[in-house]
Amino acid sequence: MQFQLSEEHLMIQKAARDFAQNECLPGVIERDEKQQFPKEQIMKLAELGFMGMMVDPKYGGAGMDTISYVLAMEEISKVDASTSVCMSVNNSLVCWGLEAFGTEEQKHKYLTPLAQGRKDGELYIGAFLLSEPEAGSDATSQRTTAEDMGDYYLLNGTKNWITNGSSASVYLVMAQTDPAKGSKGINAFIVEKNWPGVTVAAKENKLGIRGSDTHTILLTDVKVPKENRIGEDGFGFKFAMKTLAGGRIGIASQALGIASGAYELALAYSKQRKAFGKEIMHHQAIQFKLADMATRVEAARLLCLKAAWEKDNNIDYTLSSSMAKVFASEAAMWISTEAVQVHGGYGFVKEYHVERLMRDAKITQIYEGTSEVQRIVISRSILNK
Ligand code: CAA
Ligand code: FAD
Repeated sequence: MQFQLSEEHLMIQKAARDFAQNECLPGVIERDEKQQFPKEQIMKLAELGFMGMMVDPKYGGAGMDTISYVLAMEEISKVDASTSVCMSVNNSLVCWGLEAFGTEEQKHKYLTPLAQGRKDGELYIGAFLLSEPEAGSDATSQRTTAEDMGDYYLLNGTKNWITNGSSASVYLVMAQTDPAKGSKGINAFIVEKNWPGVTVAAKENKLGIRGSDTHTILLTDVKVPKENRIGEDGFGFKFAMKTLAGGRIGIASQALGIASGAYELALAYSKQRKAFGKEIMHHQAIQFKLADMATRVEAARLLCLKAAWEKDNNIDYTLSSSMAKVFASEAAMWISTEAVQVHGGYGFVKEYHVERLMRDAKITQIYEGTSEVQRIVISRSILNK
């Protein structure tokens, strides 16, 4: 066992850190306020190969490992979690799902431009449509239907909370074909946003990750050719679960980045702010907060890297990705709240960034499976249920 990053990993980490400082930091407060999608940043991330990091180069990807992905996600998320969620969804939910379970035709047609993040010079990214107004944590209760019409499926229903909802060109949609079969009646489909019957509806006005575009998507008699089904008939729920296991490494790394970003800001501030005749870092109450922050960041990072290492070594990572997500997201919430406290009143205003990190942290405990859902996955695994 060794805990050192390779030269290559260090280079990727540095590239991501530089990108976050030079491309994400400028305008991050304004984009948050205006709920502006970071299109320019995503286009540039695509140029770096960060929108299809783990995809085989033969499908347009960068061919990197999951460790590299964790490192890049942490660095981008330290500065701009609205950009990193878009990156996470495209990399782990969309590209990975297609590469692992798509046909050769599906990969050539969709995965290649998705991994490159562009097609004909325009932004080309994906979204993952599992959640519905009445099927969130209880994801098998899909109300969206996919009626088998012979050579095509007819999709009808409402998906909500969809990240990249209006910016994506391609949707991976889960829908129920045979309710009698329960989760085994669910299918997954590749749907193009511009097909007849697809409507991008309301955009959410959110507490955090306000630059990310979250929409309701309406599907009304959408004809999906059979060749756009992913996997065998009835594979849709397993597809979603297997894909989410990797997605949770992405969101855990996002939470890690928010946590480490907030910690670094608090550390720097404690060295310059004076109260009672000395820098506040000399007060033990502040030192203990910093000590706890540093410890939780380190533990979250180790859990993320362990899950990534397992994925890279073909070891079942369902348990470790849920552990990483629940721990890192709770660390992010706690650390960002304490970082606001260390900043005093300055922490409560936008210029100091920590209030945004605190708002952004909250979503990491909710999406891609709430903390309660992660505990369900973990307890079922350790109890063998
Ligand atoms: N891999 C493979 N198969 C799996 C699996 C996994 N990780 N997890 C479950 N399955 C299979 C089960 O084995 C079972 O199949 P069999 O009947 O053949 O045994 C089937 O799927 C149904 O599983 P469960 O009985 O465990 O289902 P459940 O109703 O008890 O639900 C759950 C389990 C873990 C709570 C699941 O519903 C879940 O993960 N819910 C959360 C949904 C979620 O994470 N949504 C995220 C949406 S995307 C998103 O949020 C993106 C973003 O924000 C950026
Ligand atoms: P519910 O499932 O109704 O849960 C409500 C509360 O009850 C939670 O605290 C939950 O943990 C708890 N709870 C539910 N069941 C149990 C149980 N069995 N045991 C204990 N506690 C339980 N979805 C997508 O498909 N694609 C996306 O791109 C996407 N992006 C999102 C972006 C944002 C900004 C948000 C807010 C959500 C996004 N989601 C997306 C949806 C997200 O995955 C769901 O919100 C999440 O899975 C929770 O579902 P819910 O909101 O319906 O809450």
